[in-house]
Amino acid sequence: MVEQVAEMLHSSNHAVVFTGAGMSTESGLPDFRSKDRGLWEKFNPDELANVHALVHNEKEFTEFYRYRLREIDKYKPHRGHYILAEWEKKGIIKGIITQNVDAFHFDAGNETVLELHGSFHTFYCHTCKKRHEREAYLNGETICECGGTVRPGIVLFGEQLPQDTFQKAETLAKQADMMIVLGSSLMVSPANMFPIIAKENGAKLVIVNREPTDFDLYFDVVIRDLSVKEALIAIDEKLRELAR
Ligand code: APR
Repeated sequence: MVEQVAEMLHSSNHAVVFTGAGMSTESGLPDFRSKDRGLWEKFNPDELANVHALVHNEKEFTEFYRYRLREIDKYKPHRGHYILAEWEKKGIIKGIITQNVDAFHFDAGNETVLELHGSFHTFYCHTCKKRHEREAYLNGETICECGGTVRPGIVLFGEQLPQDTFQKAETLAKQADMMIVLGSSLMVSPANMFPIIAKENGAKLVIVNREPTDFDLYFDVVIRDLSVKEALIAIDEKLRELAR
């Protein structure tokens, strides 16, 4: 199957990558829904990852997001992230649509990265919107001068999604002749619609995911026996052979 994906990539003109938390587990970051190790096994997203918690449970909310930021700061992109950056530079892929907020695709060197759920790159006051520094937040400065709560620039459950980012992602998905999904359960909408949008516009679909998803039947290739990192390394090797 790795050969098939490499050939599909080699002959595609507008390949797009879609990533979920499974893209970053091999950097050390937990995903959300893997059995017995996903983040939502330890923390209840309904209690924490939403605007209500930010307003009415500020202490726990801030504790949770400072914990996630410390986790992200402990780890870094892995070889698979760097392969995706090389592929964009070589024109093999046109960009990445990601649900991840770790900004590892930017850190690895990708430029066209559409962060559907925002990222930990920015922090701002929920009340007056004043920007705050990531370091300050990590050091515990989590209350703004105005008295409001400083929060990360990620999209919380119950918040408006970044419409401009979604528009750009939709354009990229509609132009795709191939989409590779890496490490997502495809359980969260509307993010999970992008592979379907690509398919409806004639794209071939590939997924690399350890567990089955409800959308596997739409995919032309389903790789479950290789991890995201292993699959990217293997596909990249085949691509180099084809390019010789
Ligand atoms: N290789 C292959 N698959 C992997 C790997 C890996 N190294 N690590 C994890 N996986 C798979 C898991 O089996 C799981 O099916 O990746 C998938 C990750 O799914 P989720 O944990 O649901 O993460 P994701 O799809 O990104 O969640 C979407 O949910 O909570 C919200 O906002 C949050 O952006 C997130 C959204």
